[in-house]
Amino acid sequence: MTNSLLKPYEPLSLPNRVVMAPMTRFRGDEQGIPQPFVADYYAQRAGAALIVTEGIWPSVQGQGALRGPGLVSAEQVAGWRAVTDAVHGADGMVFAQLMHAGRLTVPDNNLGGLHPVAPSPVPANIELHTASGKVRALIPREMTSADITQAIDEHVASARRAIEAGFDGVELHGSNGYLLHQFLADNTNLRGDRYGGTGRTRFAVEVAEAVAGAVGAHRVGIRLSPGNPLTGLVEADPAPVYRALVDALEPLGLAYLHLTDNSRYPALRDLRPRWTGTLVGNTGFGHPTTAETGAALVDGGLADLVSFGRLFIANPDLPQRFATGAPLAEVDESTLYTHGPEGYVDYPFAG
Ligand SMILES: Cc1cc2nc3c(=O)[nH]c(=O)nc-3n(C[C@H](O)[C@H](O)[C@H](O)COP(=O)(O)O)c2cc1C
Repeated sequence: MTNSLLKPYEPLSLPNRVVMAPMTRFRGDEQGIPQPFVADYYAQRAGAALIVTEGIWPSVQGQGALRGPGLVSAEQVAGWRAVTDAVHGADGMVFAQLMHAGRLTVPDNNLGGLHPVAPSPVPANIELHTASGKVRALIPREMTSADITQAIDEHVASARRAIEAGFDGVELHGSNGYLLHQFLADNTNLRGDRYGGTGRTRFAVEVAEAVAGAVGAHRVGIRLSPGNPLTGLVEADPAPVYRALVDALEPLGLAYLHLTDNSRYPALRDLRPRWTGTLVGNTGFGHPTTAETGAALVDGGLADLVSFGRLFIANPDLPQRFATGAPLAEVDESTLYTHGPEGYVDYPFAG
């Protein structure tokens, strides 16, 4: 059953189908520069067909948390260069996930002390972690058309920096409640202009077009999680929105679509037939994706590649363990978001 995960994927010349899912781990320094051991962490996992990094902020406005890394400054580019060199030295491939927080920041959580911006002035009904404790999310400022143009430009500039830093490409984070997703969802996009209503897919498409135009479509993936209510998003009827979005993205020739399934809306089953390119599937936030559930996606034709999150944290040699049947370690949740090397680069390899 798991063998289909270990077959090469010819269209992208990948040795297997096992992708490392993007996972925020807060191992940046105070300036959002990856600490030196971040290179070891990703290089340990270079047996993946593709590594997608943790969410990286493409602008100070888009920074959602201190200690999350950015791709804005020359120092950050240099920090990431050490990571990409290490991954390439271990024969891996790595894309940088560009993650704009939109309404999910507060002035204490970004280096500019900036108030959050979002499609509409709708606060997330959640608390955000800051250095001085939890605070309620703020009412974001509604983005003007100049803000929208600026956000697109910031994604482009950051994608260029990613390429300068040696990344093989970038993944646009259109899922899990972040800015692109805030434009897509019902309750966070109340706009009356061309970016709202039936135009709610426009921002994501314009970001994808602009970034693909700047660095090449073959270097751009996009992640979507239709109907995922994380951070309080409401998407009452995801099918028409995401069908329209996928139809608009399809002709761009992107590197891949990374799609998270949902128990309320079977995104993979509904959208796979509309996407002729590479599709990376993920089963979502319930139980960690297993070799069996992952292989079933490939066997069922729902995905070409499968991303694994929590298992990849605990098992740096995950594809190898799938191949040998070595037991799988479980993730230690207490060190997911701590800032040091513990619980990060010290998960052992099998044998
Ligand atoms: C610690 C942690 C951090 C995460 N951070 C991100 C992130 O930065 N960007 C993103 O798109 N998804 C993020 N996710 C979601 C994962 O990419 C993945 O979709 C989720 O863990 C489900 O896959 P799994 O069952 O294999 O763990 C995160 C998940 C975890 C566990």
